[in-house]
This record gives sequence, C-alpha cells and structure tokens, in this order.
Amino acid sequence: MSPSFTAHNIRLDDGTQTLPERGWTLDQGPHVSVVRWMSQMLFPHGPGGQRIIDLGCLEGGYATEFARLGFDSTGLEVRKSNFENCLYIKDRVALDNLHFVNDDAWNIGHYGVFDIIFCVGLYYHIDRVTDFMHMLARHTRRAILLDTHFAPEDDASPSVATYNLSPLVTHEGLPGRWFHEHELEADNPALDALKWASWENKTSFWPTKPALLTLLRQAGFDMVFESFNQFGPDLVGPMGADGYYTTHTRAVFLGFKTP
Ligand SMILES: C[S@@+](CC[C@H](N)C(=O)[O-])C[C@H]1O[C@@H](n2cnc3c(N)ncnc32)[C@H](O)[C@@H]1O
Repeated sequence: MSPSFTAHNIRLDDGTQTLPERGWTLDQGPHVSVVRWMSQMLFPHGPGGQRIIDLGCLEGGYATEFARLGFDSTGLEVRKSNFENCLYIKDRVALDNLHFVNDDAWNIGHYGVFDIIFCVGLYYHIDRVTDFMHMLARHTRRAILLDTHFAPEDDASPSVATYNLSPLVTHEGLPGRWFHEHELEADNPALDALKWASWENKTSFWPTKPALLTLLRQAGFDMVFESFNQFGPDLVGPMGADGYYTTHTRAVFLGFKTP
C-alpha cells in the first residue's frame, strides 16, 4: 500500500504521481530551477559526481529531482514515517545516484562533505543556529541554498503574531526570536507524527535577517545572495505590505564559498 504524502508531488517512473491533487510536480518548482542554475554556474561540465544533500528531506522529492539532474544526491530525514515515504520513492525510480538516510541533520558529518547543501524548511526548526550553520559550512565545498524564516526586528510585524514569536532577544550572540515547536520529549512516539516539525528541540531560534546574513558569511559563505525565484514573475504582490514575504518573513538565501 502506498504511504500518504503531505507535500511532495513526485513523478514516478511509471508516470504516476504521489500527490496529484497538488496540480504540479516538484520538478517544476522554483527550488529545482535554482539548483539547476547553481549547477550550471558551479559545474560547467555537469553535476555528475558532485554531491548534494537535502537536509530534512521530508518525502524525498527534492533529493529525487537532484538525482534526476545528475547529482550524487542524498536525502536526510529524521522521522521514520517520512523516511518510509523516501524509500517508497527510491523503489519506484531507477536512480543509482539517489540515496536516503534516516538520521538527525546534526549528524551530517557521518556522511562526508558535499558540494551543495540544500536546506529548505529546516533551519527555522533549529535552536543552536550558530553551531548548526558552522557545521553546515564545514561540510560544504561550494554552496548552500537556505530557505528559512527569519525574525522581524519590529514587534508590530505580522509574522510575530502569526508564529507567536517571542520578544526580540539575543541568543548565541545573535538578535532574534524564539518559535515554540511542541512539548514532546525526544522518546515520545507522538513526535514522529508531527511530520513537519523540529525534532529534539522544543523551541527554535529565528535570527533577524542581518544576523543570519552575517552568520552565513562568518561561517565561510563569503558571497551571499537572496533569491526571489519562489515568487514567480510578480514580486509586487508577495513583497507588498500584505504579501507573503512581509507577513511570513521567509526568504531564500544562496551562500557561496569562493575558491
Ligand atoms: C517543514 S518540513 C520541510 C520539508 C522539506 N525540506 C520541504 O521543504 O518540503 C521540515 C522537515 O525537516 C525534518 N526535520 C526536522 N528536524 C530535523 C532534524 N533535526 N534532522 C533531520 N530532519 C529534521 C522534518 O521531519 C521535516 O521533514
């Protein structure tokens, strides 16, 4: 029986899709086109043999698309139930260059060094964000794609209320706000059912955008850019006062290590 999918609509080799009601498959999504572009810029001879890791890969869709692009692609996911979705995909696509591991992102070091780290929807579920960023930088040769929420500086920002964020505080030397995740201990089986949440930490820390950009640079990504591809052709709506960018304070950053 096929497991249920919560977010990733993946095209399988037999032509079926994992979540057809989405109306589009992940290979058509904005993050895949950004990684394709990064690959063209960084690896003009093609991504063959280059290693990419998708941290907190959920149902494995992005990792699968990166393998289809030609990367040696690893999806890492801490939740057993999500990992089972990944294995379901792995069995239904003929990709020897696609790997999945069931582990905590803090253990990335067990899997060697990667050329690109793809970190989408995970960083805002982390508490010790400075240590985590430095660890990621140590395990990346070339670049990171980081899609994350950041903390607004203004208490009146709508995202403070939307996410019930704490007042602005300093943590690990960074200005930011705490986000409450859950109340479950790490050995509580109910933690697996919170499919999109943090793992062992019950609260996560969102640095402000300037603090996050500074941290990326200090960690070793000396060239940092922001990407807006996730919004499609119209930036006026999403970046306006009522737009997603403003109300959810979520952005996509690209960090590069210059050779
Ligand atoms: C919001 S979802 C994002 C999923 C996926 N990256 C995407 O963008 O579609 C967060 C994912 O990170 C996983 N996760 C949370 N904390 C993790 C950790 N410490 N190590 C590995 N995965 C983690 C969750 O189980 C979930 O699959």
